[in-house]
Amino acid sequence: MRKKIVAGNWKMNLTLEEGQKLTSEIVHMVKDELNQPVTVVINPPFTHLQSVKKLIEGAKDIFLGAQNCSDKASGAYTGEVSAGILTSFGASYVIIGHSERREYFKETNEQLTEKVKLALANGLTPIFCCGEPLEIREANTQDAYVTEQLTASLFGLSEDEIKQLVLAYEPIWAIGTGRTASSDQAQEMHASIRKHLASKYGQAIADGISILYGGSCKPDNAQEIFSKADVDGGLIGGASLKSRDFVDIVKSF
Ligand code: 13P
Repeated sequence: MRKKIVAGNWKMNLTLEEGQKLTSEIVHMVKDELNQPVTVVINPPFTHLQSVKKLIEGAKDIFLGAQNCSDKASGAYTGEVSAGILTSFGASYVIIGHSERREYFKETNEQLTEKVKLALANGLTPIFCCGEPLEIREANTQDAYVTEQLTASLFGLSEDEIKQLVLAYEPIWAIGTGRTASSDQAQEMHASIRKHLASKYGQAIADGISILYGGSCKPDNAQEIFSKADVDGGLIGGASLKSRDFVDIVKSF
C-alpha cells in the first residue's frame, strides 16, 4: 500500500510568529481529528524550520520539509542551503523542482538531478515536482512533456534511489489560479506517470511510489481528487496557510 501524503508548501509566506501559530493549530487539529494514517508534511521557509520542528515534536504523523535545497554539497555558495544542513535541522522531506523554481530561478534538469541525489545521500525524501504549462495542455501534449521531465531528471537513478522518492504532479496552469485540474485529468496524468516509471523500473517499484496532486487543491475538491486510484495525496499551496483548510484536506481520503 502506498503512503498517503499531504504536504503544505508555504512558499514565501508567513512571519515566524504566524508560522508558529499555524503549526500549533495544525498539530492540535491533526491529533484530535485524524483517524487514519496520513503523512503530513509542513514545508515552511528555511528560516522557520527549527521553530516548526520544535512544535511538531511528538506529533507522530507530522514531518518537517523544506522547499528547496542546493545542488552543491557545501562550500562558497552564498545564500544557498544544503541538503546536509536541512537534515541537521530535523527535516525529513525536501521539495525539488517546483515549477516556480524552474521558471523564476531557471533550475535545469541537470541541477534537479544533483539536488535529488544530494537529498537522498543526506537521508531526505525528495518530493519531486513535474507539470506542464498551459500552452502544452492546450496542445494536448502534456503526457510527453511531463514524462520527459521525469526521464531527464530521474531516470539516471538506481532502483534503490527512485523507490525513495515522492512525486508531485502540479500542472502550472492550476497553481494559485483557482483553476484546478479535474479529478479525471489528475488521474490520467498520474496513471501516465506511473506507467512511465514502470517502463523503466518495473511495475512493483512504480506501484510503490506515492504521486501527489498539486494546483488549487482545496477542502471542497480534495476528496474527489484523492478518490482517484493513482492520486496518493496532495501538495498544497494557498490552502496550507489556513489550519482549518489544510487539516480538512488532510482528512479528505
Ligand atoms: P496552490 O495550492 O496555491 O495552487 O499551489 C500549489 C503548489 O504550487 C504547491 O506546491
